[in-house]
Amino acid sequence: MNADRQHTGRVAGKVAVVTGGSGDLGAAVVRMLSAHGAKVANFDRTPPAVAWGTGSVADWTLDITDAAQVETAVREVAERFGAPDVLVNNAGVLGRPAPSHESTEEEFDAVIGVNLKGTWLLTKYVVPHMIRQGRGSIVNFSSIHGLTGGGNVPLYHASKGAVRLLSKSDAVVYGPYGIRVNSIHPGSMRTRMSRASAERSPLGPEEYYRQLVSGNPIARQGEPDEIAYGVLYLASDESSFTTGTELVVDGGYTAH
Ligand SMILES: NC(=O)c1ccc[n+]([C@@H]2O[C@H](COP(=O)([O-])OP(=O)(O)OC[C@H]3O[C@@H](n4cnc5c(N)ncnc54)[C@H](O)[C@@H]3O)[C@@H](O)[C@H]2O)c1
Repeated sequence: MNADRQHTGRVAGKVAVVTGGSGDLGAAVVRMLSAHGAKVANFDRTPPAVAWGTGSVADWTLDITDAAQVETAVREVAERFGAPDVLVNNAGVLGRPAPSHESTEEEFDAVIGVNLKGTWLLTKYVVPHMIRQGRGSIVNFSSIHGLTGGGNVPLYHASKGAVRLLSKSDAVVYGPYGIRVNSIHPGSMRTRMSRASAERSPLGPEEYYRQLVSGNPIARQGEPDEIAYGVLYLASDESSFTTGTELVVDGGYTAH
């Protein structure tokens, strides 16, 4: 790779669609990609709390579980910014902590709907643009909870495990078209989702954090930028030989 290129922005000239960019990790991803030269479309059902302060980010308010809304928004991005080079499927919901037999059908549909169907719908409508261009990078948000089971949120584990294997399967199918697909697996991050998870855990917040963080090689929660740097790498051409892989960013939680 030409070293000069890195100084002009690691994703300079690329068009990126990021779902859930109004949330904590998504906002860090939007800012990171924009700071490194990409035009970014944020697809979220709620607008960001604070304006981005740059013309290179635009917001679309939509529900990513609705096929018609996704199709329209992707078409609008292509018309306004150009065909997407990067898709970051970050939007996700945790759902209510409950064992499988106490979860409702509505809860199943909500968690699987956003985390899995949303990821698939975005892929479905963005990939044809990438195939036409002969290039693209898709980064799907799984979790450490997509690698291991756990006693708190079984539907969340199931959805994130499914995202992991959708990523690998899509990597197999789309590799010949120049499209790479990888998953990223955050550990416990300092975000509202993780606070909500701790507060709602039957273990209580202190025991929850103790189990999740205190035994880790790096015994703290991660910061949103520590995920965003991983996404930047996978989105950029620096990772041009990396596909079908899982980038675990968890302070070593899954190392033992
Ligand atoms: N926070 C953590 O500790 C952690 C750990 C591992 C994985 N993750 C994953 O990282 C991703 C981001 O997490 P976060 O902590 O930033 O969460 P967050 O709740 O702060 O943000 C999620 C965003 O997704 C949006 N969203 C939800 N449903 C949507 C829908 N149907 N249509 C459009 N937008 C929708 C929300 O409005 C929100 O802005 C999620 O996929 C999550 O599962 C988070």
